[in-house]
Amino acid sequence: MFPTWFDKWNRENPTDIWGPAFLVGGAMGAVVVAGLIIAWGQPLPGDSLQTGPRGTGMSVPEFDRDRLAPDPSIADFYTEAPYVPEGGEPLARDVYQNVQVLGDLTEDNFLRLMNAFSAWVAPDEGCAYCHGDVDLEEYGQDNLYTKVVARNMIQMTQSINEGWDGHVNANKQVGVTCYTCHRGENVPSDIWFRMGPVNEATAGWSSIQNRATSMSQFTSLPSDALETYLLNYGRIGVHDLESRVAGSPADAGFPSIQDTERTYALMNYVANSLGVNCVFCHNSRAFYDGAEVTPQWGTESLGIGMVQEINNDWLVPLRDTYPPERLGPVHADAPKAACKTCHKGYQQPMQGLNVIADWPELATTSGTPDYSGVTE
Ligand code: HEC
Ligand code: HEC
Ligand code: HEC
Ligand code: HEC
Repeated sequence: MFPTWFDKWNRENPTDIWGPAFLVGGAMGAVVVAGLIIAWGQPLPGDSLQTGPRGTGMSVPEFDRDRLAPDPSIADFYTEAPYVPEGGEPLARDVYQNVQVLGDLTEDNFLRLMNAFSAWVAPDEGCAYCHGDVDLEEYGQDNLYTKVVARNMIQMTQSINEGWDGHVNANKQVGVTCYTCHRGENVPSDIWFRMGPVNEATAGWSSIQNRATSMSQFTSLPSDALETYLLNYGRIGVHDLESRVAGSPADAGFPSIQDTERTYALMNYVANSLGVNCVFCHNSRAFYDGAEVTPQWGTESLGIGMVQEINNDWLVPLRDTYPPERLGPVHADAPKAACKTCHKGYQQPMQGLNVIADWPELATTSGTPDYSGVTE
């Protein structure tokens, strides 16, 4: 292709052109990319939520892609304003045979709630999911477990909204309805069961940890953190600030290293449930120091008490009501809830949508809802 003299000269004067070529090419490429970024803007824009004093690194960064995307289940949320009673309307308890919880509602509000339960919990099956394939006159029967469970769930939801106002309305009115957990599914996502030993071949330390399970957030930390803290009221905390503590893990009440690891397992679960990092609540220079925390730490503290109550007072007692296929795979225990059952990976469930505004019936245990805040 080239004249012979050139090939000859080229052979006699070998030069490394690759090094300089890559250097020049790389530099030009970088200039082009930099030019594009300046011209088109940052390709992965984000923002960060500052949670502490400037310069301490206390911030929760997030890509706009995630931050601005709406939670897809918001669009499917069914809601309908109540019929504000004027007095004299027939009440559900007089019209029907077996209304134990919602008896003081007017008939139209009662049926409005029944519609919502179907949309929130059983959109495919409808009324039949709790009442069976029978005539409306027979809806008073309690022979399906789903109806018995649902009655308990109504009382649980009322009690969460009333008793844990400081959590579920921490920043502004948000509240919870059946949809907060169920999202149109019979069985809510992100429920949990007791896990017990994860390793049958050993006893002791490794039998509850060192296996990547979803319950340990796929770490080597213990798999029984939810059970210990959100069911059995265990003390959340690291072993001690001393470098070495006298005593043995076999002593009752001895704060062991495994307690520390279990605390970290719980904290990983919490952070993942809310889609945040640790400095959303803590100053990471002193995780133990209650004087250096953010307001969200307090909201979580209430949340821990709330979840313990949801599990122990409402969900665990339903164990004998469920059919066997709903019970846990290892211990046949009742399905339980925790942070992620409501939060689903978001800082606030359904990104802080006020779900309770139209449903004063679910906001109080008193039986007589307050319709005064309802605007028509
Ligand atoms: C998720 C479960 C669930 C779904 C779905 C459901 N209901 Fe109910 N229904 C209940 C519960 C629980 C009660 C009892 C409430 C109480 O004791 O206060 C009840 C009671 C009733 C009663 C009173 C029956 C009587 O005589 O005592 C009627 C009527 C009724 N529902 C109609 C409906 C209709 C219509 C639909 C569908 C639009 C429906 N329900 C969907 C759970 C459900
Ligand atoms: C705090 C979360 C939470 C809320 C709020 C909640 N539920 Fe549930 N619900 C659960 C859990 C956990 C289960 C157990 C799942 C299972 O059955 O395997 C459950 C189960 C049920 C079941 C049985 C479903 C089945 O197929 O086994 C029904 C029916 C039900 N809920 C109705 C309701 C209704 C109606 C409301 C609102 C009044 C409600 N739930 C509110 C968490 C919740
Ligand atoms: C949503 C708020 C929140 C987030 C996020 C969070 N924590 Fe916590 N953390 C708390 C609360 C509240 C407590 C105290 C619980 C109690 O004592 O009942 C706590 C306790 C702790 C403790 C025990 C401190 C002691 O007193 O010994 C450690 C360690 C800890 N968290 C580490 C972490 C780590 C690591 C992360 C990130 C993976 C994290 N936390 C994420 C709220 C949070
Ligand atoms: C029954 C449903 C439910 C459960 C279970 C639940 N939360 Fe919440 N949580 C909410 C609601 C609703 C809000 C929104 C309150 C608001 O913004 O006004 C909230 C808000 C919060 C906030 C405040 C967020 C902010 O932006 O200020 C934190 C922190 C939090 N939850 C942590 C937790 C932790 C940790 C758990 C588990 C121990 C938990 N939650 C369990 C319903 C729940």
